[in-house]
This record gives sequence, structure tokens and C-alpha cells, in this order.
Amino acid sequence: MKTPLVPFVLLCMAFMAYTISIYQRPLRHPVPAEDASRIAQGRLVWQKYNCQSCHQLFGLGGYLGPDLTNLLSTPGKDANYLKAFVRSGIRQMPPFDVPEEELELLVEFLRAADRSGKASPANFRIKSDGMIEAHD
Ligand code: HEC
Repeated sequence: MKTPLVPFVLLCMAFMAYTISIYQRPLRHPVPAEDASRIAQGRLVWQKYNCQSCHQLFGLGGYLGPDLTNLLSTPGKDANYLKAFVRSGIRQMPPFDVPEEELELLVEFLRAADRSGKASPANFRIKSDGMIEAHD
């Protein structure tokens, strides 16, 4: 019986090439330099008031409220909209007494989350190389 060595070796080589190409992606597309410290502080505000216990970012978090990843790029939902909800609450969401400075940090954190991708998989398309492309 002939061993199917050639297809096996070819598959291994293809796997290696694919793996190397995937792991080099972050090097080819560096994350844009941002004011990381303010964004990091905004994340602390997000955690301090436990927004994640009811809201999700990229689908992760509590499920009482909606996913807020792309909130700020949704037409009509800007920073003031966000601040108004936080200050006054709605239905199961309690009002939060958050100082303006912390609200600004929260907005910067949510803007950075928004820039980093699309949370809804509804419009995702799988490309020929197996990577996912998001549409608006
Ligand atoms: C106890 C749960 C709970 C917590 C904690 C909570 N929320 Fe909410 N939030 C909700 C619910 C539920 C809604 C949706 C209310 C509705 O539309 O009926 C909501 C709605 C919102 C909306 C409007 C979303 C939209 O798509 O219009 C924003 C913005 C928001 N929350 C921000 C925050 C932020 C920021 C925090 C943290 C400071 C937070 N929430 C903490 C439950 C919560």
C-alpha cells in the first residue's frame, strides 16, 4: 500500500504557511497609537459603575441592557445621549451620579471600543482566506 506522504507533507506546509501569515497580521496592521491612558481610565470608570453587569462589549457582559460596543457610531446616539442615560437611568437601569470628568473618560473608552470593530455578527462576511470582514 502506498503511503499518502506527499499530500500529508503538502497539507502540513499549507498549515504552517497559514499559521505564520495569521500570526504576522498584527505586525502588519499595528494598532493606531491612541491616548491609551485616558482610554484605560475610562475602562476603570466602566468597571467602577459596573456597566458590564448589564451591558456587553463585543457580546461579553450582562444581558439586561443592550450591547454598547457601537453605540456612539449609531446615528443619533452621541456622547450627550450616553451621558443623559447614565445620569437619569431608564427602566431597570438605575441613575448613576457620575462626575462630568468620569463621563468624559467613559465616552473616550466607548469611542475606542467602537473604533476597534463591529459587535453585531449579522453583517459579517467570511473572506476566502478565512478572515472576517465587517460591513456597516
Ligand atoms: C442594572 C443594569 C444596568 C446597569 C448597571 C447599567 N445599565 Fe445601561 N441600560 C440598562 C437597560 C435595561 C437599558 C435598556 C433600557 C430600555 O431601553 O428599556 C439600558 C440602556 C442604556 C443605554 C441606552 C442604550 C441604547 O442603545 O440606546 C446606555 C447608553 C446605557 N444604558 C449606558 C450605561 C452605562 C454607561 C452604564 C454604567 C455607568 C450602565 N448603562 C449601567 C441596564 C443597566
